[in-house]
Amino acid sequence: MYLTRHEEALLAGEEGFGCQRAMELLVALGKIYDADRLIPIVSAHLSGVSYKTMGEGGLLFLKELSGDARVTVPTTLNPAGMDLQRWRGMGVDANFAAKQIEIITCYSHMGVETTCTCTPYVIGNLPGIGEHVAWAESSALSFINSAVGAMTNREGGPGALAAAIVGATPEYGLHLKENRAATIVIEVGDIREIFDLSLLGQAVGPIVGGGIPYFRGIHPELEGMKLLAAAMAASGSVAMFHVEGLTPESDEQVLDGLEAISIGRRELDVAKESLQTADEPELIALGCPHLTVKEVRELAKMLEGKQRVKDVEVWFCTSRSVRDECTKEVEVLERFGKVVCDTCMVVAPIEDQYSVTGTNSAKACNYLPTLCSQKVVCASARELLEGLM
Ligand code: F3S
Repeated sequence: MYLTRHEEALLAGEEGFGCQRAMELLVALGKIYDADRLIPIVSAHLSGVSYKTMGEGGLLFLKELSGDARVTVPTTLNPAGMDLQRWRGMGVDANFAAKQIEIITCYSHMGVETTCTCTPYVIGNLPGIGEHVAWAESSALSFINSAVGAMTNREGGPGALAAAIVGATPEYGLHLKENRAATIVIEVGDIREIFDLSLLGQAVGPIVGGGIPYFRGIHPELEGMKLLAAAMAASGSVAMFHVEGLTPESDEQVLDGLEAISIGRRELDVAKESLQTADEPELIALGCPHLTVKEVRELAKMLEGKQRVKDVEVWFCTSRSVRDECTKEVEVLERFGKVVCDTCMVVAPIEDQYSVTGTNSAKACNYLPTLCSQKVVCASARELLEGLM
């Protein structure tokens, strides 16, 4: 892989240990994927934040790196393992909290914006069409490839961090226009509500694997795109998709000769059944990916004037920035549960307190059994919340 003089100097350790480690990682990735060179990026988004998923090894690596390395492009952070301000109210233990705060401090020291959200694109980290970025967080990177037309590979946490430090990433995969073409056409019928888009992603992910589906028959807004992106990234390994008339590159696609399949009510029902392993949740958790302002407002409207009867823990997961923008709606939601910031039902240590979680997110339904030892109730937000009244 060709390196500029500056990149050679970073690799030789002339700007410190952290930059050297970052360059070593990028060069290794470039070799694996046969990249010709590094290309500049305009932003990064990092995963690998929760102490639950990083553990002691991850914290040590971060401590080492944060000694002298700093990010050189705007860089945001995925959810942590707890609400950084109200972790006691979540039942998180003090040892976990101390480790989590160490992780956040390391990132902050490196110049990372400690946003702790998986929807950075609604709080200011929004690249433009054709701009190269290095994003981890499978739902967010698929969203910006597909809804925005920015260009990123499915980065892991360390790769995205290395790119953020160097300000560049190896040029391969979805950074190259020719690799962003649709590989299969999905004709969709009978979408009735936004929850169905999550089920659609669940149904399509295993069929397309790492391919690039082209959807016809759906017209999702931002919230629907984020659910679809999240579900397909979890049930398959989709990092990009086209929605006809919506994805910036969708009108350039050549569809003749591609395999086409139809997804309708039957497939959506099968997808839901495949995720459902219980009936009565102990925890209801909404906001995977994190709730937007619009979703917070819709939930508040749904709950306004209602009384809860059942005593089930409820979390509305969102970013601190969205929470701060919705103070009135947050008051309504907090009569039913907790508006939890900086974290989510998957990366928080919920297994210490609950064994059955209800959620409307197919992505969360995929991960809750394996990462959180949960049984799962998969239902729309309305169904889950009506079960409380
Ligand atoms: Fe976000 Fe957690 Fe879901 S990071 S996409 S809310 S699993």
